[in-house]
Amino acid sequence: MYKFVIHGGKSLNGEIEISGAKNALLGLLPATILANGEFIFENVPDLIDAKSMIRLLENMGEEIEFRGNRIIVRNHGLRSYDAPYEFVKKMRASVYVLGPTLSRYGYAKVSMPGGCAWGPRPINFHIEAIQKLGASVEIDQGYIIAKANKLIGTKIVFNTPSVGATVNTLMASVLAKGTTLISNAAIEPEVTAIANFLNKMGAKISGIGTKFIEIEGVDELHPASEIVIPDRIEAGTLLIAGAITSGEVKVTKCNPNHLNALIDKLIDAGFEISTGPDSVQLKTINEKIKPVDLETEVYPGFPTDLQAQWISLMSIANGVSEVTDNIYHDRFNHVPELNRLGANITVKGNTAIVRGVNELNGAKVMSTDLRASASLVLAGLVAKNVTEVLRIYHIDRGYERIEMKLKKLGADIERVQTDEY
Ligand code: EPU
Repeated sequence: MYKFVIHGGKSLNGEIEISGAKNALLGLLPATILANGEFIFENVPDLIDAKSMIRLLENMGEEIEFRGNRIIVRNHGLRSYDAPYEFVKKMRASVYVLGPTLSRYGYAKVSMPGGCAWGPRPINFHIEAIQKLGASVEIDQGYIIAKANKLIGTKIVFNTPSVGATVNTLMASVLAKGTTLISNAAIEPEVTAIANFLNKMGAKISGIGTKFIEIEGVDELHPASEIVIPDRIEAGTLLIAGAITSGEVKVTKCNPNHLNALIDKLIDAGFEISTGPDSVQLKTINEKIKPVDLETEVYPGFPTDLQAQWISLMSIANGVSEVTDNIYHDRFNHVPELNRLGANITVKGNTAIVRGVNELNGAKVMSTDLRASASLVLAGLVAKNVTEVLRIYHIDRGYERIEMKLKKLGADIERVQTDEY
């Protein structure tokens, strides 16, 4: 086990490159199920979740090499159509093998993911979509067993836009007979990236990046290569690291258009932001951080995956702010841990009321999930004395050696082996 030991109080300054997007990669890799041959992915982040997806696909019969920031996938046809519990319990995105395996092989058996650290995360939309495409679905001993001779194109309307259900439906319908229409599709950049990749493989998807997607089924797809888009959540986290430490941080190799909602809020909080074609620079110009309310929304709104980090920033703002999560109503596991560091935050329903304090004070805190751990690291960067963040395997799921990037910007943070759990 490892923990982070952070000596807070250093201002973060300088330039840092952003890695490839976890949530794009986790959809791109299972898309390889849809065709035999060799696929190459570049700009791949070295993450536990990337490795978890690789293990699952290897278990299903693919050959995968992961070297540097490149993955080569060789698919000679799957030997197993199952995603066992031992894989899915580690990573919910394992459910992405459902759509492509079912549509190509007519059968898939995937463990139900269950809840996650901060509450329920249903997959009913995924199941209803494949049923509408003509699959029979049975839930047996914790497994989804889906069967279909051939999926048939249809109209699918989501009540709320879901990243995962849109991706799974896309991967199910590209090989279906006829045309599928998805209404109220998710338009997150990661969904768009996966849809574009499917088209590179020979799929016929139109309306990509809009709420209405049309997929004309094809008989066969072919392998393709892709450069993984930059991780907007990593970029956002590092910009907030600059903000919380009164620094000046430039994130490069990112897509500023994907960060508009955060940029607006950072400007409201009193920071100066300048953007280039593939960079965003944050400069501290005021001594005090202005309190800024926000509500998380689906893209292009403020992402739920930056809610915890924003609360850390607001915890030392000059006043009271309210942060509401409309995507995951219970995603506030970081709040009690931030309060251990001296923050003053209360949660009412799906809103955190953050009363800014003058300073945070280091303590031992515990990561409970990926973005919560990022928020604790951010708080530790500005807290007096020493902050120890335990259970950092959560952060390694979705950030590529975050401590190396933070050190490069001037943070005093070490990864230390520990028996503490
Ligand atoms: N929802 C349902 N039924 C479903 C699916 C979703 O009710 O079948 C609801 C959810 O409960 C939630 C909303 O719809 O309220 C949106 O959930 P979505 O399906 O979009 O989330 P997801 O696909 O499970 C992805 C990311 C998450 C990110 C969310 C929201 C991946 C692998 N995961 O999850 O990323 O928080 O979209 O943007 O892409 C993270 O990276 O830390 C992370 C949790």
